[in-house]
Amino acid sequence: MTDLVTIDPHDEQALLAWFEAEQASIDHDRPRPISRTWGALAGSARTPSPYIRRELVAAVEGDEVVGVAELELPLRDNPHLAEVSVHVVPAHRRRGIGRLLFDEVDRRRRAAGRTTLLGELLLPDPRERPAVEVAGEVAAGMAFSTALGFTSVHEEEHLAMPLPADRVRADALRRATPGYEILTWRSRCPDELRAAYCRMRTQMAQDVPLGDVALVPTVMDEERLRTEEERMAPLYHQVVAAARRTTDGEMAGYSLLFLPRDSLDALQDDTLVMPAHRGHGLGMQLKLATLDVLRAEHPDRRLLHTWTDPTNTAMYRTNAAFGYTTAEILHEMQRQDAG
Ligand SMILES: CC(C)(COP(=O)(O)OP(=O)(O)OC[C@H]1O[C@@H](n2cnc3c(N)ncnc32)[C@H](O)[C@@H]1OP(=O)(O)O)[C@@H](O)C(=O)NCCC(=O)NCCS
Repeated sequence: MTDLVTIDPHDEQALLAWFEAEQASIDHDRPRPISRTWGALAGSARTPSPYIRRELVAAVEGDEVVGVAELELPLRDNPHLAEVSVHVVPAHRRRGIGRLLFDEVDRRRRAAGRTTLLGELLLPDPRERPAVEVAGEVAAGMAFSTALGFTSVHEEEHLAMPLPADRVRADALRRATPGYEILTWRSRCPDELRAAYCRMRTQMAQDVPLGDVALVPTVMDEERLRTEEERMAPLYHQVVAAARRTTDGEMAGYSLLFLPRDSLDALQDDTLVMPAHRGHGLGMQLKLATLDVLRAEHPDRRLLHTWTDPTNTAMYRTNAAFGYTTAEILHEMQRQDAG
């Protein structure tokens, strides 16, 4: 008998069992994974965001969690959208538990009036697949989501490089940035830069390639930025490098790193150069500036991760020069209600 249980994030034991089931599934399928840490899950689930409603569901047999699902509903934008994920513990697959969990989150999103479902599927790089022992199982996520009516609407590569970064390689990429100065800050953007930083974050959301994902880019405003910074600070260190034109102080671009407080990973998230300032190699110099902070302040970190659409030629080349290699392929899987 399989029961479906909604997890109370303040129930430490239940949340930990949920987390461990998700990890067991990830560790089984993904030779080079990156996933959220226990601290990031517990911290974010226990202090709900005003921008996203999140529900965690577990499939339980006796005392054992055999599968887990997560549902995220944006509250201030994208009122049509529901993001879902389903994981089944390897020993319990092909018994209908994945479908049972999916049907439950699907029922909940319908009740919330959401018509588009999105899910992230991470597969090993096909060029490495022969080396992956679990190759038969690796296809499970794609077979499952296809069986449920999802299609892949966008692909990105999850890239990774070992840390500490090769100093000689990094130094060879350094260039002067005449006309621009590079500033850095940590977890809180300085007051005088907040409006410009919000404009750049909004531009980033609009410019990042999304394929056919039915998502309206989020507008960053100062209230949302403050909320994000306050929620992130206990869970992640943040490092931001930004370029500013020296003549008039106009902000030209930024690069953003998140460092989970309870792991040895570093996540290179956004890197954006504003349209009027492209073509001066600023993206590379911004990334190098974040690397300098990493080296000086977080020498314990072992792996740097980023995500890039391979058709985004400029960013893809920058990342290859940097020393990143492909770890996984990320598919955005989507299903939309008819009509
Ligand atoms: C994908 C996953 C959730 C499936 O869980 P599951 O409990 O084994 O799935 P079910 O038994 O409910 O299978 C439902 C349908 O999916 C398809 N399917 C699932 N696994 C499959 C596999 N290995 N090969 C082919 N088809 C598969 C089948 O159509 C199946 O229906 P059927 O058994 O009637 O043929 C599980 O393999 C998993 O946790 N994978 C890692 C995480 C992931 O990729 N999640 C999906 C994206 S969020």
